[in-house]
Amino acid sequence: MGMTRRPFVGGNWKMNTDLASAVELADDVVAACGCFADRCDIALYPPFPYLQVVGRTLGHHGLLLGAQDVYHQPNGAYTGEISTDMLLDLNVKVVLIGHSERRHVIGENDELVNAKLLAALEAGLGVVLCIGETLEQREAGDTNRVNVSQLMAGLREVAPEQMEQVTIAYEPVWAIGTGQVASPQDAAAVHRIIRRSVADLYDQDTAGGLRIQYGGSVNAANARDLFGEPQIDGGLVGGASLDSPQFKAIVEAAVQATEKKREAPTA
Ligand code: PGA
Repeated sequence: MGMTRRPFVGGNWKMNTDLASAVELADDVVAACGCFADRCDIALYPPFPYLQVVGRTLGHHGLLLGAQDVYHQPNGAYTGEISTDMLLDLNVKVVLIGHSERRHVIGENDELVNAKLLAALEAGLGVVLCIGETLEQREAGDTNRVNVSQLMAGLREVAPEQMEQVTIAYEPVWAIGTGQVASPQDAAAVHRIIRRSVADLYDQDTAGGLRIQYGGSVNAANARDLFGEPQIDGGLVGGASLDSPQFKAIVEAAVQATEKKREAPTA
């Protein structure tokens, strides 16, 4: 039986904004997107220093406060790192794990990604496990192998009942911040492989309930076609999330695409 998953759109602000503009952007996003919060999970991932003020702005509007990263150790001598308890203190609900910039710019490996994911799950946080191939890997025909391998490594030792807390973000590295978006068909093909792997690893119900976001140059112009794919359950948005009208259009596209899927369920 086909099921329609609740859409999920995230705004990853990365290392952008300052204190004043973070508050202003959060205010604008709440005003623009608050009315969709009953039909779509909407998360904002501001830089760490602004989590508290952005969280205050999100308040009771139904938007989710998200963090861009977390460390797996509970406390101690880990200069510069942030624990799950610190995030919970600030009312953070969801955390990005293994974003491509953390993997490829900062140098995180699958083992660290998995440790962070397990710690976040243990703390009761929602997690968005980010995976994706580089251009070199795609051109070498390694797309599926790389994504399945990052998926398996990231989900190592995750219990079936914890999968409810997990979202996957498929973000081809060559599409992130480049303006070069994956075609809806190419993205959907990878989403299908991811879902099938989760069905093999867990079961059909877990795979059917799993939300898989697409990320990489999502904008107001391409969101509708991407989210129209039955396999694509929303997006993780970088650049376009810094512009509230554009972010609103993306959220709206996710809501409308989901309504259509509900009328004509296929997957
Ligand atoms: P982008 O970033 O939308 O700017 O390509 C997406 C991401 O890195 O999550």
